[in-house]
Amino acid sequence: MSLAQPALKIEPAGVMPPVTEAVFKRPHVTIRGLSKRFNKTVIYDKFDLDIPRGKLISVFGPNGCGKSTLINMIAGLIPPDEGQILFDGMLLDEIKFGYVFQNYREALFPWLRAFDNIAYPLKMMGIGKAERQARVERLVERLGVKIDLNRYPYVMSGGQQQLVSIMRALVVEPEILFLDEPFSALDYEMTLFMREQLQRIFVETGTTTVLVSHDLEEAVYLADRVLLLSRHPALVADFVTYDAPRPRTDATLSDADFVQIKAHCLEVFQREVRKG
Ligand SMILES: Nc1ncnc2c1ncn2[C@@H]1O[C@H](COP(=O)(O)OP(=O)(O)OP(=O)(O)O)[C@@H](O)[C@H]1O
Ligand SMILES: [Mg+2]
Repeated sequence: MSLAQPALKIEPAGVMPPVTEAVFKRPHVTIRGLSKRFNKTVIYDKFDLDIPRGKLISVFGPNGCGKSTLINMIAGLIPPDEGQILFDGMLLDEIKFGYVFQNYREALFPWLRAFDNIAYPLKMMGIGKAERQARVERLVERLGVKIDLNRYPYVMSGGQQQLVSIMRALVVEPEILFLDEPFSALDYEMTLFMREQLQRIFVETGTTTVLVSHDLEEAVYLADRVLLLSRHPALVADFVTYDAPRPRTDATLSDADFVQIKAHCLEVFQREVRKG
């Protein structure tokens, strides 16, 4: 992780549309020929995917199909066996990621107060104490978070810890935000609250976001595209577009479009599960 922004690859004039347009249209992340095995189990075998820029992608698929493995490989947390992952068409390890782990209990540093956990990535980026404090406070205010951040993680509920880890991912204002079942530990009220916060942040910042969710309603509700994966070796079973306007609200859940897309996703999912 670093502060550095990816350099733009500028095409010769006349070959491509103007750079800004070309950059906007180009996939943010391009995955080609990705293969990954754990022992003898093939999780990915020559997997291809384009992740569009500035969209919220929900990833949905059967347990153990490789959702976490996929985002871990894109975020550079585990190495693929083969294949390429390109950012803006280039191999880059200089990109700023925000990551919320599926296993939130192991994700926070137990020796740091919640506030310092959130500020930690800023410290790694070499940002001074006063600025770190100001940035965390701005985020707290923006999210309307009311919990006491002077406490240590072990005295916080699972949901509160999860909230802290979501804030830690957001504080760096990442170029790509990865969320691996970020709401799984939250109660229903908090889940609804955090979904709205995530949607609001997404609308405000347009950050490319990859969200793994095991809740199909949530996956569709939040998504511009729903990536449906098959059992491993994982293939793209479908990559469904859902372009309802934002902000989406409770009323969205009963829109004909929403209901139809959700039903389609469920059908694809069940077909994939039956294959197993
Ligand atoms: N470090 C590892 N060593 C061995 N096997 C692993 C490892 N990590 C994942 N696996 C296996 O790879 C497969 C994909 O795991 P992954 O965690 O990506 O699935 P997932 O789709 O995120 O599942 P879930 O819905 O349960 O979170 C599973 O069968 C899992 O057991
Ligand atoms: Mg997982």
